[in-house]
Amino acid sequence: MVDLVGIAEIAKMFDVSSAAVTNWRSRSDDFPKPVAMLKSGPVFKSEQVKKWYRRKNKMTSTVISSINLKGGVAKTTTTVGLAQALSGVFDKKVLVIDLDPQTNATTMLIGEDKWFTLNQEGYTLATLFEDAISDSSNFNLSKTLQKSVGNVGEVKSVDLLPSSLNLIDLQDRLITMPAGKYQTRIPVNILRRGIKDIIDDYDYVLIDCPPNLGNITLNGLRISDGYIIPTIPDVMSTYGIPQIVTRVSEFSEEIENDIVPIGIVATKVRGQAAIHSRTMNKMRTDSCKPMGKSNLLYPPVFEAYFSESAKIAEAAEYQEYSTLKQKWGYQGQYDSFVKFTKEFMRII
Ligand SMILES: Nc1ncnc2c1ncn2[C@@H]1O[C@H](COP(=O)(O)OP(=O)(O)O)[C@@H](O)[C@H]1O
Ligand SMILES: [Mg+2]
Repeated sequence: MVDLVGIAEIAKMFDVSSAAVTNWRSRSDDFPKPVAMLKSGPVFKSEQVKKWYRRKNKMTSTVISSINLKGGVAKTTTTVGLAQALSGVFDKKVLVIDLDPQTNATTMLIGEDKWFTLNQEGYTLATLFEDAISDSSNFNLSKTLQKSVGNVGEVKSVDLLPSSLNLIDLQDRLITMPAGKYQTRIPVNILRRGIKDIIDDYDYVLIDCPPNLGNITLNGLRISDGYIIPTIPDVMSTYGIPQIVTRVSEFSEEIENDIVPIGIVATKVRGQAAIHSRTMNKMRTDSCKPMGKSNLLYPPVFEAYFSESAKIAEAAEYQEYSTLKQKWGYQGQYDSFVKFTKEFMRII
C-alpha cells in the first residue's frame, strides 16, 4: 500500500507553509520526484518525502532494546505492540529487530510460512552473524529487510529484520571467535556494521532481545540509546532487574556510549493477585532510588501497565485485522498500549 501526498499535505506533515515545501523542491536536487501530476498539482510518495526530510535534518533514530533475563514476561508482546502503536496511532516509522532465536516477534509480524521461506533462503539475521564467524559475505540486507509487516490495515510503517533458530548455535560460536579483531573483547559490532545503511531511516528502532545478556543481546545493546524492562510484577520476574541495570551500565562504560534505563513496564498484571499489587508498589517505591551499595539507580516505572488479557494473548497469532482496536480488544487493552506508547515517546 503506497500513501501519496500533495504539496499541502507535505506542508501539514512537517508543520510548514506550502511555500516552504515548494522552496525545498526547487532548491534541493535530491527532493523526491513526483509520481504523478494531477490537476491539483504534483503528488509524491509519502515515505520518500519523509525519508528525504530525515536526511536533510540529519535526524537519527532512537534505538531501544527490550530486556529481561526471564522469558514469558511479555517482552515480545510489548515490543511488537509498541511498534504497531507507534506506527498505527502516531504515524512513526519503526524498525523491529528480532534478536531472539525463539523468533516470536518475527512470526507475530510475518507469520510462520513466510518466516520458514526466509529462513531457508538465508534471509535472516543469522546470516549476518554467520558471516562474521565464517568470514563469508552472504548477508543480503535488502532481501532480509521485510517492509510494511504486520497484519493490521492501519499499521503501515513497521519494517522487520527477522530472526532465526540458528541464532542459538551462533551465540555460542561467537564466544570462540579470535580476539583482537574488534574494539572490544567480544564481537559486539556485527549488527551495527550490518545495518548501518538503513538505521537512520526510522524514527524508532525496537530490538526484541532473548532472555539473557549474551553476545547477541550485546550486539543489540551496542546500538541502543536505551532499554525498557517488561516484567510480570512478581518475585521471580523482577529478581534480575538490578543485575540487568548493573551489567548494562558496565557494558555502556566499556563501549563509551550511554544506554539509558528508560523504565520498567508491568505486564500480565492480575488486579486480584496480592503479590502483583505488592510488587507494583515495591517497584514504584524503589524507582529512581540507589540500589543496594552501588550508586546505580533502580529504573523508573512506567505509569502505564498491561493487565492480563486473553485477547492480548490471542493477538500473538498471525491474523488479519483492519484496526489495532480490533486486534487488542475493546476492554481497555488498546488504551493501555496507547497510554504506554505516549509515555514512552514523552520520556524519550
Ligand atoms: N497482557 C497479557 N495478557 C495475557 N497474556 C499475555 C499478555 N501479554 C503477553 N501475553 C502472553 O504471554 C506469553 C509470553 O509473552 P511474550 O511476549 O512471548 O514474552 P517474552 O517475549 O518475554 O518471552 C505469550 O503467550 C503472550 O501471548
Ligand atoms: Mg520473546
